[in-house]
Amino acid sequence: MKFATIKGWGKCLPPAVLTNDDISTFLDTNDEWIVSRTGMKERRVSHVHVSDLSYVACVRALAAAGVNAEEVDLIIFGSCTADEVVPNTASRIQLLLGIKTAASFDLNTACTSGMYALSVASAMIKTGAVRTALVIGAEVISVAQDWTDRNVAVLFGDGAAAFVLQGTEEQEGLLADELGCYADSRDILRANGYGLRYIDGQNILGTIWWDFLGQEIFKKAVMGMCEASAGAIAQAGLSTDQIDLVVPHQANLRIIEAVVKRLGVSGRVFLNIHKYGNMSAATTPVALVEAIEEGHVKPGMHILLPAFGGGLTYSAHIIRWGERVTPVHIADIELPPCEKSALEMVREHMSRPRAGGPF
Ligand code: ACO
Repeated sequence: MKFATIKGWGKCLPPAVLTNDDISTFLDTNDEWIVSRTGMKERRVSHVHVSDLSYVACVRALAAAGVNAEEVDLIIFGSCTADEVVPNTASRIQLLLGIKTAASFDLNTACTSGMYALSVASAMIKTGAVRTALVIGAEVISVAQDWTDRNVAVLFGDGAAAFVLQGTEEQEGLLADELGCYADSRDILRANGYGLRYIDGQNILGTIWWDFLGQEIFKKAVMGMCEASAGAIAQAGLSTDQIDLVVPHQANLRIIEAVVKRLGVSGRVFLNIHKYGNMSAATTPVALVEAIEEGHVKPGMHILLPAFGGGLTYSAHIIRWGERVTPVHIADIELPPCEKSALEMVREHMSRPRAGGPF
């Protein structure tokens, strides 16, 4: 197959909403600071595992595509907050979907994971290795959050989105992608405490604290997203004027504004950062799903998706949308009800025993 088109799309946002005012009940911060520095008003906190959010997003994406789960022969779970490392989270999603066998694996490049997954799945479809893929960008950051640190606690939220990809001879789906990583900046963003290096007799898994140099991340994010976007636009043989819609990673409104100004694409940008904050790997995928649902995506559009994440990884994808912008079916599926408020769940995370700490 020459191309891998996006046939279906679905998202799953946990229902519990954590507002800026909620956060200011336990941290020295306020709505005015958070809105003016980030553009965020609220975010979601999940009451279920990331695999459960992903499962619902996948069922919705398969229905939107009009594709049966048995046709799926590849599942890529893009995330840095897997349920478990062994077995991987993709295999639980496969099990929940009732798919007997598929190539199922997890992919972690932090916030760019969903977009890297799109690249890998498209490439595997183009080589003929697989025919139908589920690409997932999902995150439950709330569990890995240091809720005592106002530098990071205000920035993140939980969510999931999924896409169904299939091969086609039509010039649709991913036209160009530019991926990279500033490895010399890997220390500026670190969720300390998970990973085997933290089992050293002094610490236990479950204590998480962040290294987060906000201004350095800001500068590298703008640089990476702009360079990758310019590279992908050139690779696709397009000019910036031919980009119809930009759906960027939503980590900070000011980062997006800087990228948009440098690229010269103002007036063509989809934003939802005010509703969800930064959902890491789920951010750009959820934004693309909402852009489709809200009617911003038209047949044949060229869509640019720039992103960045810990690593410090960056990416830019150019998609040419196909003919269909409405779902084939709408799935009748919901998450189990949530009995607690977002604030109650955050307080539970804060009350978990903390051991070790920075060492
Ligand atoms: N509430 C109130 N005040 C705060 C808060 C808060 N939540 N956080 C920081 N401040 C204070 C600081 O302590 C500082 O006070 P001081 O001047 O008395 O020292 C002041 O606000 C300014 O802090 P800065 O760090 O200079 O604020 P800045 O304008 O740079 O904004 C921010 C900080 C929002 C973090 C910004 O740097 C940013 O967005 N960086 C990029 C972060 C990002 O995108 N991360 C995504 C990571 S992606 C992934 O893969 C996980």
